[in-house]
Amino acid sequence: MKALVHHRAGRHMLRLDTAPDPRPGPAQALIRVVAFSFNFGEVAFRTPELPDGTIPGWDAAGVVVTPAADGSGPPAGTRVVTFGWSGAWAELRAADTGELAVVPDGVDLGAVAALPVAGITAMQAVRRLGSLLGKRVLVTGASGGVGRFAVQLANLAGAEVVASVGSPERGEGLLEIGAAEVVVGPQAMTGRVDGVVDNVGGQQLADAYQRLTSGGVIAAVGMASKEPTTIDFEQARINHDRGRIETFNITVPLGGDLRFLVRLAEQGRLEIPVGWRGDWNSYQDAVGQLLSRKVAGKAVLDVRSA
Ligand SMILES: NC(=O)c1ccc[n+]([C@@H]2O[C@H](COP(=O)([O-])OP(=O)(O)OC[C@H]3O[C@@H](n4cnc5c(N)ncnc54)[C@H](OP(=O)(O)O)[C@@H]3O)[C@@H](O)[C@H]2O)c1
Repeated sequence: MKALVHHRAGRHMLRLDTAPDPRPGPAQALIRVVAFSFNFGEVAFRTPELPDGTIPGWDAAGVVVTPAADGSGPPAGTRVVTFGWSGAWAELRAADTGELAVVPDGVDLGAVAALPVAGITAMQAVRRLGSLLGKRVLVTGASGGVGRFAVQLANLAGAEVVASVGSPERGEGLLEIGAAEVVVGPQAMTGRVDGVVDNVGGQQLADAYQRLTSGGVIAAVGMASKEPTTIDFEQARINHDRGRIETFNITVPLGGDLRFLVRLAEQGRLEIPVGWRGDWNSYQDAVGQLLSRKVAGKAVLDVRSA
């Protein structure tokens, strides 16, 4: 089969190549991939030490070719969206049946390929903030994949959402999907927030901490800035700041949460933010745009038409 593989000497350490077909385990379905999406982490933080030829990729949507041998999961011909820690960027993928959701006919397989990691991260991070009815929540990196999902899900959970972005242009479309306010960096906001989903780290995390109410929570999701964070806790003590910062990692298996998000998308209550879409032969353009902060939301690559 054809696959987008890790290749240290390739541009962005990638190359379109041939690779052996995957051999599914007993609780895995074989999927013919229609589309996959790129996540910042798997593009920006992929270790060079990975053996050449390894197929990376977390998120892929497609159609079941061979159902799981143990009887779990959907039958052949079912449209599904899948997650796994590797193997998504290929024509065929072996997917754990606990890490997939059936996709109804009305939902586009390309768009839904953008859901798994970014959507579930946003959902689980928002959930980590506790009950949000009538609360105020800040989302940093709100222009990105996790950010655009987090804005919508925090709004759906009853919060007033402040969306923080790098420039006014990067904030386009955020009011329409549920932000009450868009600011350029946490420093530009007024007042305090009860919860934060932080995707950026560095100075933005330090600034967000200063804006937290006592008892508020920050879910520290990511470090898109690639900057470490310095927080002046002495100053925080003087200010009587008593909020807490929790490191966040996505929890798997995520099939149950994925089914919930697919249902929201089907009902038109969750917009899947696809900011770049194209043929997978154009993967270099997609990576370049994502890393240079030009994608509003997610980058989706079409492997073949549904
Ligand atoms: N812990 C977990 O389980 C988990 C799961 C998923 C993702 N993550 C992490 O969460 C972060 C966000 O992921 P994502 O998929 O939403 O990424 P993304 O789509 O690339 O969005 C990241 C956003 O961060 C902002 N940013 C600020 N400084 C940046 C810089 N120097 N380079 C790039 N972006 C910068 C950008 O917004 P502006 O251009 O508006 O500033 C960008 O839209 C990443 O660090 C990712 O690794 C963690």
